[in-house]
Amino acid sequence: MTHSLFLPNSYKHYPEKGSVSYQSPSNIALVKYWGKYGEQLPKNASVSFTLSHCHTQTTLEYKMKRGAGFHVKVFLDGVETPAFLPKIETFFERIKPYVPFLERYAFMVRTTNSFPHSSGIASSASGMSALALCLVALENQLLSREMTSDYYHQKASFLARLGSGSAARSVEGPLVVWGEHPKIPTASNNFGLRYPFKVHPNFENYQDTILLVDKGEKQVSSTVGHDLMHAHPFAEQRFQQANDNLSKLISVFESGDLEAFIEIVESEALSLHAMMMTSMPYFILMKPNTLEIIQKLWAYRKETGSKVCFTLDAGANVHVLYPESEKDPVLQFISKELAQFCQKGQYICDEVGFGSKKL
Ligand code: PMV
Repeated sequence: MTHSLFLPNSYKHYPEKGSVSYQSPSNIALVKYWGKYGEQLPKNASVSFTLSHCHTQTTLEYKMKRGAGFHVKVFLDGVETPAFLPKIETFFERIKPYVPFLERYAFMVRTTNSFPHSSGIASSASGMSALALCLVALENQLLSREMTSDYYHQKASFLARLGSGSAARSVEGPLVVWGEHPKIPTASNNFGLRYPFKVHPNFENYQDTILLVDKGEKQVSSTVGHDLMHAHPFAEQRFQQANDNLSKLISVFESGDLEAFIEIVESEALSLHAMMMTSMPYFILMKPNTLEIIQKLWAYRKETGSKVCFTLDAGANVHVLYPESEKDPVLQFISKELAQFCQKGQYICDEVGFGSKKL
């Protein structure tokens, strides 16, 4: 099914060749997206912090070609990586109606991630977002009238979503909502948008330290994970829970109530993992060290009254979230007490960021 809003008007001219570059951030969901329908449409609304230091930089080089079909080469850190081609070709096939110039050009995609490839941090959100932004930037040159900035970002998020759902939330920042929600009339299943309501200063420059517990390949691809929600006995309750949690977060973002924030965010992380543990087949994606970290973090919070909390992606790594005002003590706690549970003691210090950048 095509979405008519993002079908382009006719193109005015085609530049012979050129290149465009974008940097796109990773994001960490506070309310999780897990379960989809149709073409990567979410079964519930989600909201995420856009990150700052974990990002992908992509340069798209294009040159006019003859004949039909896609012509793409991908380079990761300067090395040609044909293993990425199937994913990119599937993506191109899916987005072709919205960017019909794709078959007119031969493309070279040159991409690098600021975080190590084998860190267990998914690069699909930042990677798909950066590539989508490059394509929209190119399309903007083909049109007789330039896109408005809002439409440009919406179209990039819309295309990124068709590559990887959570990539829809990696175009803007610092807080992004994706998915229809009764309390957010402008939110859409088609693209992410900057969180439109008031946010308390407590959430400014919120910190995210990513503890690398398991740097291996994902045990369960997100495609398989989302599919498992189709026949899941708790699916409907889970989608309702996520939407309810987003409703609660709206008040929390406004009031700055960090106790309430912690409760929602940690419950979301554990609910996501509970879905995996109760699907058929079932999975445990946490490792013993994930639980060690959670226990230590809870003990630290109890002892000190800190407002530190955790969230998880579909893996064993732990995102430690805390207000900027607690940066020094929490970093000390992490290095003294949590780093020992990370592979090679490694963790990445990040914080909330403001979205993609044209380079
Ligand atoms: O974008 P996908 O299809 O890889 O799904 C990612 C889902 C989670 O990262 C587990 C949660 C989320 O909302 O980001």
